[in-house]
Amino acid sequence: MPKITIQDFLKKKTEGKKITMLTAYDYPFAQIVDEAGIDAILVGDSLGMVVQGLENTLPVTMDEMIYHTRIVSRAVKNALVIGDMPFMSYQAGIKDAVRNAGRFLKEAGAAAVKLEGGAEVAEQIMAMTRSDIPVMAHIGLTPQSIHRMGGYKVQGKTEEAAKRLIEEAHMVEEAGAFSLLLEAIPRGLAEMITSELSIPTIGIGAGPSCDGQVLVLHDVIGMFERFVPKFVKRYANLKEEALRAISEYKDDVEKGAFPSEEQSFK
Ligand code: KIV
Repeated sequence: MPKITIQDFLKKKTEGKKITMLTAYDYPFAQIVDEAGIDAILVGDSLGMVVQGLENTLPVTMDEMIYHTRIVSRAVKNALVIGDMPFMSYQAGIKDAVRNAGRFLKEAGAAAVKLEGGAEVAEQIMAMTRSDIPVMAHIGLTPQSIHRMGGYKVQGKTEEAAKRLIEEAHMVEEAGAFSLLLEAIPRGLAEMITSELSIPTIGIGAGPSCDGQVLVLHDVIGMFERFVPKFVKRYANLKEEALRAISEYKDDVEKGAFPSEEQSFK
């Protein structure tokens, strides 16, 4: 199977085929996600919460994102690898934004980057696109804005807020984004944005009409329990399975059942 490109994203929208996307942060899981045939892997700054045990994504650094993106890229054969720009790697200025975005492609093997925001980052998107760095925009609930938003809340619920999100969707498309992630917005609003844009929308908590869907891998496989948003569907409980295996190993060691003859050298 050939490597998925941003052109394939656009083609899928035109052909009415759904785009699949998941996060991954390390080699073994990136390999599994890729092997499953998922179109795109986002090395999300959500790693701050699901891998590093942080309260939110704000403390995640560029160097940490580069480290994780590099090991994911090493594992992936087909999926499009997208590096997530962490808080304060693009907000302070255009030069900063382009340099940091460039690091994902130059040092970490990503083929695109994602950043949060609409109108306020349109210039950054334009400058990155001009530098041949494909950009996925992200509007709606933007976790890096947790303090402004006052928590992880559904966005675009009033007529005014919905109108603003529609305007921002058009702005990021005009700025050159190849795709737009819509997080935690009403399904009708996501449907409207999806039908108005020519670039594909990827939804997380944005209903079924988006051109594609993304979820955080650790939510999907039952490896993150601190909170489970309404939009998550858990497909496995790997924590339970890991706990069972590790407890069994502990018991075996304690009662002398491991290692047995089978695991010992003559
Ligand atoms: O960081 C992340 O994992 C995200 C999600 C929306 C998928 O941005």
